[in-house]
Amino acid sequence: MTTDLSPIDKAKFVAAKQATRYVESGMKVGLGTGSTAAWLVKCLGEMVRDEGLRIKGVPTSARTAELARDVGIQVISLDEARWLDLTIDGADEFDDDLNLIKGGGGALLQEKIVATASDQMIVIADISKQVETLGAFPLPVEVIPFGWQTTKTLVEEMLVGLDVMGRSASLRMNGDAPYITDEGNHILDIHLNRIGNARQLSLVLNQIPGVVENGLFIDICDRVIIGYGDGRVEVRDINEGTTEVERFDFLQNDNIFTEIGD
Ligand code: A5P
Repeated sequence: MTTDLSPIDKAKFVAAKQATRYVESGMKVGLGTGSTAAWLVKCLGEMVRDEGLRIKGVPTSARTAELARDVGIQVISLDEARWLDLTIDGADEFDDDLNLIKGGGGALLQEKIVATASDQMIVIADISKQVETLGAFPLPVEVIPFGWQTTKTLVEEMLVGLDVMGRSASLRMNGDAPYITDEGNHILDIHLNRIGNARQLSLVLNQIPGVVENGLFIDICDRVIIGYGDGRVEVRDINEGTTEVERFDFLQNDNIFTEIGD
């Protein structure tokens, strides 16, 4: 079964599996969105079923909520939880300071609220998400539908004075219709190529009327777990300033793939 997985899926799986080591019974855990986070939810579901793990999960999207319930994780809202011990989520890019671009899957608003309401945030990712400078991945910005074209113009004009290498924004589509987020908003994907000052950009974007939130996560992530296709995992901790490398034994854990791989 493990041999059926592509190297990228193996990398996502080992990162997710390693992250489960930080989850303890009694915790309230923010559950991220995306293909890497889906591996995490499946791994946690297996631990709930087979090892008696007791957690309450706060999903960051409707699709994560559905998956979490399917695998047997108790789901609660953020309003019920109020504050979380830990959030584990994927990312579209991370840099050396563990600043992130998120929102490729359209869930950045709930993801940012949930991660910010957590004692710790762990990002799980394959090595392709690592960048020297953020910005090659188009930056998702959630905007309210009312007047979105005006908001798009304001965003593009604001970018003229900032340290970026592009400024065209496109409305994310879902087939022929604009993409709608779980909060009923649209997403503008901004093609910046390189973001010189992510902190400044994030602050300025959020000043524009019509912008709800942007996909830059600055000083939110504490630890990144990077998976490789050969089974290695690397854990970088920004607070401790440490990097640890471990190897995950696929063959020994073959049954995990068999049970949760579909
Ligand atoms: C969801 O909105 C995103 O922030 C995802 O966390 C991000 O796109 C990573 O997704 P993958 O794990 O599928 O690459």
